[in-house]
Order: sequence, then C-alpha cells, then structure tokens
Amino acid sequence: MKPAELPTPALVVDLPTLEENVATMARRWPGESLRPHVKAFKSTALAKLLDRVGHHGFCAATLREVEGMADAGLGADILLANETLDTDRLAALARRDDLRLTIAVDSIETIEAAAAGGVGEVLIDVCVGLPRCGCEPADAGRLADLARDRGLAVRGVMGYEGHIVGLEDRSDRRNGTDASMADLAAAHQLVGGAVVSGGGTGTWDLNSSVTELQAGSYTLMDTAYAALDLPFTQALTVAGTVLSVNRSRGFAVADVGLKALGMDHGLPRVEGHDVWFCSDEHVTFAPRDETPWPSVGQAISVLPAHVDPTVAYHERMHVVRDDEVVDVWPVDLRNW
Ligand SMILES: Cc1ncc(COP(=O)(O)O)c(C=O)c1O
Repeated sequence: MKPAELPTPALVVDLPTLEENVATMARRWPGESLRPHVKAFKSTALAKLLDRVGHHGFCAATLREVEGMADAGLGADILLANETLDTDRLAALARRDDLRLTIAVDSIETIEAAAAGGVGEVLIDVCVGLPRCGCEPADAGRLADLARDRGLAVRGVMGYEGHIVGLEDRSDRRNGTDASMADLAAAHQLVGGAVVSGGGTGTWDLNSSVTELQAGSYTLMDTAYAALDLPFTQALTVAGTVLSVNRSRGFAVADVGLKALGMDHGLPRVEGHDVWFCSDEHVTFAPRDETPWPSVGQAISVLPAHVDPTVAYHERMHVVRDDEVVDVWPVDLRNW
C-alpha cells in the first residue's frame, strides 16, 4: 500500500529517517548510556528497534508504559521517571520476574508507596529548574537516607532539565543545562549511587554530566525540536486528505484537526503552505508563493509540533520505506 492510500488521518513514520536519527544518537550515547524515553513514541515495536541497537534500559512516564514494556519482553531495566502513589499496581509489577523496575521518588509519601508496593529500587528525583516534580537538591540526601531506612536500594539521582531542552538559543541551552546539572551534581553528592539520569533531545550534546541520557523525541522528532540546531530529522507526519478548497477566500482544508495532533507546542506545518488554524477535525491552510493549489481528495502530509501527544491520539503508526507502507506498529503503550 502507498501512504497516500491510507484512511486519514493516519500517523506515518518514515523508517529510513527514524533509523538515521537512532544511529546519530547511538554514536554519541551508545548502548546503555542512553535510556530512551518511551513516552515520546509509546510503541514497543519502536522500543524493540532501540533494544536491537543496544539500548536495553528505558524510561517510562506511566505505569501503563512500564506494564506494556514488560509484556513485550523489554523489562530488563525500566525507570519510571515519574512519581506514583499507586501501590496496588506497583505491587503487581514488583511480583513480576521479567521486570527490573526503578522508580523516581521525591517525598516521604512516594518513598512509602514504593516500599509498600514492594519496589526494590529508586532514584531520588531532583528539581533542577522545571517546576514539575523533584525535591530540592539540598533535601536529596535526607530522602535517600529515608528510602534506605525503608529497605529500598537507592541507585542514584535523576533530574530532567525540561525547561531548557526547547530553548532555541544554543548558548542559553548550554548555560541552562550547566546550571541544572550543577544542582543535580550537588544532590548526587548527598545521595551517592552509580546513576545520574537526565537530559533530553534538546540537550543531547550539551549535557555531558549524566551517566545516562533520557531522550525520546529524537526518534520521531517534531517541528518544535526541528527549529533547534539538532541533527535529527522529522520522521513522523500525519497523513491527511484535502476535504475542501475555497480559492476565492484563499484557503484549503484537510482532515487533520487538533484531535489528531498535539497542539501545546503550536500549529503544525504543511510544507509550502501557511497553516491558519486547527479545529477539532480540520486544518485550514493556504498555499505560499509558487505552491500550486491543492485539489479536493489530494493526499497531504502534516508535520506535528509536538510528537508525544500527537502519537498518543492514535492507535497505530504506519511505517513507510520508499513510499510503501512496510509495517504497522500499534501505539500499544497508550493510556495510563
Ligand atoms: C523525565 C523526562 N526525561 C526526559 C525527557 C526527554 O524527552 P525529549 O526527548 O522529548 O527531550 C522527558 C520528556 O518530557 C521527560 O519527561
């Protein structure tokens, strides 16, 4: 099947581009120095591709992602890089012998939940500037002692500089990363352990102080990250069909609306066109300069601005090589 024949809207992954992105990252962060974050792509088929090139440890953001990775035989070393209080689901995971699970903790409550759930290993999650979970760096040692008192093994620290990864100016990104990683190093001094986990796609070559990089978006990419000076190329598009053309009012409309796109990083792109806006089921756009007007029924490609939520809206990705759909990967880590 040709991608242009897919029922739309449909997620399309260009396999050679994905493979190139994976190879570029693996040259700098080979093997287990990269702990890819599955939240970006939510697919165990894609995770298996990363496993095959030597990345055997993964980050997850939800318990569903942890469960799905273990079900797929990818549970060798999963870090739930997020807080949870769900002791029942933790207990079910802790009973599995096909899963090594480490979870992030940043409070007495999350430490108690890990201990009650029978999880053996934790990382102390440190706030390095992003106001989204993480303890104060100076409090990390106290929490590590508390975790050890509860019988948990503390593998080290994690701190995600999510407020920095998307900054367009490279020197701002460098300075921000240095400041965040200084906080993480201070916390690590107090905590100990072999693991210092952090970083993302936008800081992949600026963050040299972590022992493992947590990047995920680099695999499929999006227009927000494509605006930075990164060597990764957009492998993910949403295939759409032009539904209506109104030349007298200067716009065309396709069936890729905000229910098929993560919109928190702004409007998607349609090459050669200006995107006016998205509504539930529609994207309205207009050809720029020399671009010819599209016709009703024509296939178009829409480039999402934010990969993670875009993928999460869809049930499957259509994998394309040389303009042929060669595989279909379920987005099997969806939901929570
Ligand atoms: C905890 C954590 N680590 C790492 C990442 C890296 O992601 P990305 O590759 O999108 O920069 C994220 C993304 O949100 C995250 O939440």
